[in-house]
Amino acid sequence: MDKLQAQEKIDSLRTLLNSYAHEYYVLDKPSVPDSEYDEKLAELRQLEEQFPDLITTDSPTQRVGGEPLEGFQKVQHSIPMLSLGNAFNEQDLRDFARRASQGTSKPLAFVCELKIDGLAISLTYEDGKFVRGATRGDGTTGEDITSNLRTIKSIPLSIKEKRKIEVRGEAYMPHKSFLALNKLREENGEELFANPRNAAAGSLRQLDPKIAASRNLDVFLYGIGEWQGDPVSSHSERLTQLKELGFRTNPEWKKCESVEEVLEYVEYWTRERPNLPYEIDGIVIKVDDLDTQEDLGFTVKSPRWAIAYKFPAEEVVTKLLDIELSVGRTGVITPTAILNPVKVAGTTVQRASLHNEDLIRAKDIRIGDTVVIKKAGDIIPEVVRVIPEKREEDVLEFHMPTECPACGSELVRLEEEVALRCINPSCPAQLQEGLVHFVSRNAMNIDGLGEKVINQLFQEGLIHTIADIYRLERDELLKLERMGEKSVDNLLKAIDASRENSLERLLFGLGIRFIGAKAAKTLATEFETIDKLQQATYDELVAVDEIGEKMADSIVQYFSEQEVTDLIQELKELQVNMEYKGPKRSEIVADGSSIFAGKTIVLTGKMEQMSRPEAKERIEALGGTVTGSVSKKTDIVIAGEDAGSKYDKAIKLGITIWDEEQFMRMLEQEGGVA
Ligand code: IVH
Repeated sequence: MDKLQAQEKIDSLRTLLNSYAHEYYVLDKPSVPDSEYDEKLAELRQLEEQFPDLITTDSPTQRVGGEPLEGFQKVQHSIPMLSLGNAFNEQDLRDFARRASQGTSKPLAFVCELKIDGLAISLTYEDGKFVRGATRGDGTTGEDITSNLRTIKSIPLSIKEKRKIEVRGEAYMPHKSFLALNKLREENGEELFANPRNAAAGSLRQLDPKIAASRNLDVFLYGIGEWQGDPVSSHSERLTQLKELGFRTNPEWKKCESVEEVLEYVEYWTRERPNLPYEIDGIVIKVDDLDTQEDLGFTVKSPRWAIAYKFPAEEVVTKLLDIELSVGRTGVITPTAILNPVKVAGTTVQRASLHNEDLIRAKDIRIGDTVVIKKAGDIIPEVVRVIPEKREEDVLEFHMPTECPACGSELVRLEEEVALRCINPSCPAQLQEGLVHFVSRNAMNIDGLGEKVINQLFQEGLIHTIADIYRLERDELLKLERMGEKSVDNLLKAIDASRENSLERLLFGLGIRFIGAKAAKTLATEFETIDKLQQATYDELVAVDEIGEKMADSIVQYFSEQEVTDLIQELKELQVNMEYKGPKRSEIVADGSSIFAGKTIVLTGKMEQMSRPEAKERIEALGGTVTGSVSKKTDIVIAGEDAGSKYDKAIKLGITIWDEEQFMRMLEQEGGVA
C-alpha cells in the first residue's frame, strides 16, 4: 500500500471508529459488537505504525498518549465558570421562581436537570479538534487537564463544528467504576476513595494520563463558555444542539412551565435517585429563555437565572466521645465534638464543630451522649440533636473552662458575643492560627506551608510574625524534620511568588476582623494601595458598597495600631507587593457583572423617588446607556406613572419593561443606591 492509499484507508477507519464510539459511549446504543470495534482499531493502529507521519492528535488511537506531565498548567477562563446558589426546600424554590419572574415581563419556563456529583470541566474545540480541557478551579483560573480528559471515551476528539467553541459540564465516576476501583484498591492495600466525586477528582488530578484512562470516567455536558457557533434562543435548544454536535448530554432533563412542575420533578428524582447508575446531589433549575437569563444577570457569585436544589442531608447516629477545645486566630475558643467514627454522605466523620457554649446548652449535649449527626450542605458535619433516652444516668452537664487551654490566661465573654475569647495578644495558639490563615489558599496561597510546617517553624522559634515568613532561609529550613532539598526549594519559591500577590490576598491574609475574602477584594478594588486604605476615614469606608459600619470600624481600629504600621513597613522592606493588580473598578462594571452593563435603556413617565437626570446618572455609572426613543435596539424600558407612547411601543416590540419599583430594586441589588 502506498502512502496515499494508506491515508484514504486511515481516514475511513477513523470516521467509522468515531461513529462506533459515538454510538457506544454517547448514545449508549452500539450498532456493532465490541469485537468489530477492536478489530478496526487494531487495523488503524497497524497502519499508523507503518506510516507514523500520518498520525494526528485526534486519531482514536491517541486517547492515551505521551509521557506523564511535570505539573498542570494554569488556564484562564475567558468567561468565568460560576457556581450556583442553593435551595434547600420548597419555599427556596418558590422564592427563586418569584425573583426570576420579577426580572422579566415574559412568561417564564424552566429547564430542570440532574445535578451530577462530579467536577465541573470545560472543553475547548478549535477547527473541529479538542484542544483543551480544564477544571473549574476558582472559577477564573483552572488547571489544564487535557491529557486526562482525552482518555474519556465519550469526549469527542473531533467534531463537525469548525468554529471555536467551549462546552462545559461535569466529569464524574459512574457507580460501577467506583465500586470496581475501590475493590481493586482494597485488594492492593491502598486507601479507599470516600465517594465517586473524590475518586473522579483524584483521577483527573493524576499527572500520568494512563491512570485516568484506567478509571472509566464519564461526562455530561450542559452548558457553554466562549461560543462562536450558531446562536440559540433557549437553554433547551442548547442541550439539543450540544447533543447534535456529538456531546454526551444527560437525557433526564425536562422543560417545566410552572413552579409546580419543577416541584414534581424534584420530588420524582428525590425518590428515583438511588436507581441511577451515577451519583447526583440535587437538581439544577435554569430559566429556559436566554434573553431572560441575560436580563436577570448575575450576583457576585452566581447567576440569578439558575439555582441548585440540594437533597436533604442523610442523618446517622453515633456516640459523642469527648469535647475538645481549640483556640482560633481571633482568640475564640471553639468546642469540637469527638465522635465515634461513622460514615455519613460518603465520608467517615469523627469530628463536628459545636460552635459555642450556647449551642451546647440549647441542644443539651453532654460527653458520652448518643447523638444524631448530618453534614450540612453535605459537607460540614454537625450534631443535630441528642437522643435523651440513650443517656446514661448521672452524666454531668458540659461547662466551658475559665482559662485558655493554650496559654492559661483568663477567658472573657465580650458584650453581645456568644463566644468565649482569649484576649492575650501573645497567646501562641492565636499567633500560629494567624500564620496558618495568612498562607492559606484564599489569602497568600503559599503552597507547602501547611499547618504542620507552620507548627514546626513556630516550635523551633523560626517564625513569630507574618514578616518572619519572608525572612526564612534555606539552611534553617533544611534542618527541619521531613524537609528535603526539593521541598525546601519549592517552599522558598512559593514564598517568593507570594510577594507578587495582588493586594486583596494580603488584606485578607492579615486577618482584620470582619474582613473576609470578598470584602478584601472590594477594598483592594476601591483603594488600590494599602497606603490609601490605611489613610481612609470611617466615612470614606462606609461609603463603599458592601462595606458596613462594623467593617469600617474594624479597619480604622486595625490601621491605627502602631504594631500594624510597623508590620506593613517590614513587609514593604521585604518586597511584599501592596498594590491591587486586578481589573479597575470601571472595567468590572463594564464587563457585564452589572445588570445594566452594556444595556440600552429608555426612561419614560414620571418617577416618584428619583428625578430623570438622577436615574440616568445611576444607570450610566453602572455601565448602561440611556437613550430617548424606543427601538429594536432598546433592552429595557423603565416606565413611571402615565407613561405614554414609548410604553406602547415597548409592548409592541416585546421589550422588557420595568416599573419604578423594580428599577429601584435592581439599583439596590447593584449597589447603585448609596
Ligand atoms: S449549571 C453558571 N448544571 O454544580 C451555572 N451545574 O454550583 C453553571 N453541576 O459548579 C452550572 N450538574 O459543577 C449546572 N446540570 C448541571 C450540573 C451542574 C452538576 C455542578 C457544577 C457547578 C455546580 C453548581
